[in-house]
Amino acid sequence: MKRNQNVNASVAAPNAYTTNAYAASDRTAAHALIPGGRPVITATNLIMDYAARRKTANRVGTTPMSALANTAPALNNVSFRLNVGETVAIMGPSGSGKSTLLHILAGIDLPTSGQVTYHVRNNCACELTGISDQDRTMLRRNAFGFVFQSGQLLPELPAVENIALPLMLGGTDYSQATDTAMLWMERLGLKHLASHRPGEMSGGQMQRVAIARALATNPSVVFADEPTGALDQATGREVMGILMDAAQANGSAVVVVTHDPNVAAFCSRTVTMRDGRLLGGEQ
Ligand SMILES: Nc1ncnc2c1ncn2[C@@H]1O[C@H](COP(=O)(O)OP(=O)(O)OP(=O)(O)O)[C@@H](O)[C@H]1O
Ligand SMILES: [Mg+2]
Repeated sequence: MKRNQNVNASVAAPNAYTTNAYAASDRTAAHALIPGGRPVITATNLIMDYAARRKTANRVGTTPMSALANTAPALNNVSFRLNVGETVAIMGPSGSGKSTLLHILAGIDLPTSGQVTYHVRNNCACELTGISDQDRTMLRRNAFGFVFQSGQLLPELPAVENIALPLMLGGTDYSQATDTAMLWMERLGLKHLASHRPGEMSGGQMQRVAIARALATNPSVVFADEPTGALDQATGREVMGILMDAAQANGSAVVVVTHDPNVAAFCSRTVTMRDGRLLGGEQ
């Protein structure tokens, strides 16, 4: 897939966290250097203890402390590095902490302790675990894309507006945002679905729209949590192919949580979680 300059040029750079802080050529060049490449996200010594958080939250609440039995932390000293343009699958049994790790790497949730750093470019980094909720929201909007298992599209909006929405939230006007969305629909073979609402599309088509939406902001990293979990095998393979091709053409790194080794096979690296730890230590 060829890089479409129109698509990338049309995304404004609203703040220092924007993905355009990475020059496109910079990202492509870095991609060629993997695995020795430059990091885009580093996480060190992550602990996520939901029970401790609930205990804190309930200090002035009504939940009896006896109901909050001591449980193992969902993440137990996890360190992780993602390079620019790299594609990584996170596998492991149910409950092993995959989604928790993804949410913390993406700044959706904060760990109990530990650091997550987003490396905007050389010598410019931002600690996700040290900024305000508002800044983290801005960063997520501008630098990251998300694809979840299902239910992520707004049912009342046609596909083109679903894709345009994150651009508009980032400050792009309606006409430019929908033009960019249409370019992405063309790229992913979805043009004929532009006016369809999610209820009028198949599961595979909705995931392709979700991929277009995730990539339309030209993100540095796409986070995907079981993106093919609700699809049959053939459709899942097709959707993964589209996601990986589009991300690679864009120079975006990808982190995919999956139970499916066929999905993991699309990535350049697989890490495995067990009981809140990454097997093999720092990855
Ligand atoms: N919001 C939450 N509050 C309390 N505990 C949680 C929360 N989210 C996850 N957990 C717990 O943390 C652990 C890890 O959950 P997580 O969702 O990260 O697992 P997972 O590997 O993604 O599992 P699956 O493959 O089933 O999606 C589990 O024990 C889970 O019950
Ligand atoms: Mg999960």
